[in-house]
Amino acid sequence: MSEEKKKRDGFGSKIGIIAAAAGSAIGLGNIYRFPCELGNNGGAAFLLVYLAVVIFLGIPVMLSELVIGRRSQSNAVGAFKKLAPKSAWSIVGYMGVLCGFIIFAFYSTVSGWTLEYIIKAVSNSFQGKDLAAMEQDFSDFHNMGWRNVMWQAIFIFLTGFVVFKGVQNGIERYAKILMPLLLVILIVLGIRSVTLPGASEGLSFLFSPDFSKIDGKVLISALGQGFFSLSLGMGALITYGSYIKKKDNLTSTAFSVVLADTLIAVLAGLVIFPAAFSFGIRPTAGMGLVFNTIPMIFNQMTGGYIFCIIFFVLLAIAALTSTISLLEVVVAYLSEELHINRKWSTVWACVATLFIGSFASLSLMENTPFAIGGRTVFDLMDFVSSNILLPLGGVLIVIFVGWRLGKTKFFEEVTNEGTIKASLKKVIFFIIRYLAPIAIMIVFISGLIN
Ligand code: TRP
Repeated sequence: MSEEKKKRDGFGSKIGIIAAAAGSAIGLGNIYRFPCELGNNGGAAFLLVYLAVVIFLGIPVMLSELVIGRRSQSNAVGAFKKLAPKSAWSIVGYMGVLCGFIIFAFYSTVSGWTLEYIIKAVSNSFQGKDLAAMEQDFSDFHNMGWRNVMWQAIFIFLTGFVVFKGVQNGIERYAKILMPLLLVILIVLGIRSVTLPGASEGLSFLFSPDFSKIDGKVLISALGQGFFSLSLGMGALITYGSYIKKKDNLTSTAFSVVLADTLIAVLAGLVIFPAAFSFGIRPTAGMGLVFNTIPMIFNQMTGGYIFCIIFFVLLAIAALTSTISLLEVVVAYLSEELHINRKWSTVWACVATLFIGSFASLSLMENTPFAIGGRTVFDLMDFVSSNILLPLGGVLIVIFVGWRLGKTKFFEEVTNEGTIKASLKKVIFFIIRYLAPIAIMIVFISGLIN
């Protein structure tokens, strides 16, 4: 227990909460999942709904999680037990742990691809390939199911190593330097992308909305993507919040993280769509959209070989700082609530994730047995976690803060017991108490009906 205490102190004071929370938020969700969802949901209209979600719901939900975490100084389950003893609220925490598990399982599949793509980039295997060859490579790779599982295992092991060694501090400190570098590479890629022939079609796909495209599916996808990208609704930021000391400003943290995360996502869109349209890749191409488009842009650039390697290395690191937060939720729960020591908590969580996650990886092969009703296990895990569990978790979290924890305690937390001003606290609390629960419920139900 004393070891745990020490860890909490270190985490909060040494690196600063923004780096950790932004590290969790920025990841494959921004660069891989966001363009996929945008492409499948009609483009610009989705972008608008997405922006509304992150501003009006993302910030309040994020702040709610941080408040719960810091106030309770406890993991996702323990937090509710502490703040609402002998109530059913801890179910929200259990749901979060389960959800963290599921997300880690399929997220590690795509994380593994980043490692494969580093190797491909180093061995210059993208060079001179046209779209058909690129697509062929991508599907060949998926059909090597066990190779996917191998990379996935390596990635899970890496995550486990970091979480077990408690070296998040070190990782986040590097990430603080490396993530701005990712931003720079994305800007360079974006410039190349928008200057490709035929790029304007992609720009209008991204920026001129067709409002008739907005339906229940678009709404729920944008909501799910917003929560996914900001790491909300499953207690990752409750857990991280618990490592924060009393001096940090939670409100400005929430604003900074949402801003940084959204910037990276929009930039990723700006990189992918102009280029995709230019190369003739359909916006609905799904998984191949990002993994085929990006190397093809580098092919069109001087210095593309080196940039491409750097890009995939940074993407792998971005993924790692996200998987760390997913695993941390599970490990913090196992070690603090079930009193399994941190080492074995990590080992068991990783083994179980690999077991479940390998079904996700293997489900992407042609003629896979791991598909249910035409949907792969990978898709099902993604759908259930992002579009069902995260919004459900999010709505319960805001209801908890708005109605159970209450205004006084919320204000105490966001003002650090009255020592700092949080000028937006009243507006945000109003959203937390009334607007957010209603909005999330409406979107959620309209999505389910759809
Ligand atoms: N936000 C991360 C991304 O965009 C993924 C992630 C990490 C996550 N932790 C999470 C998603 C917790 C939901 C909940 O890549």
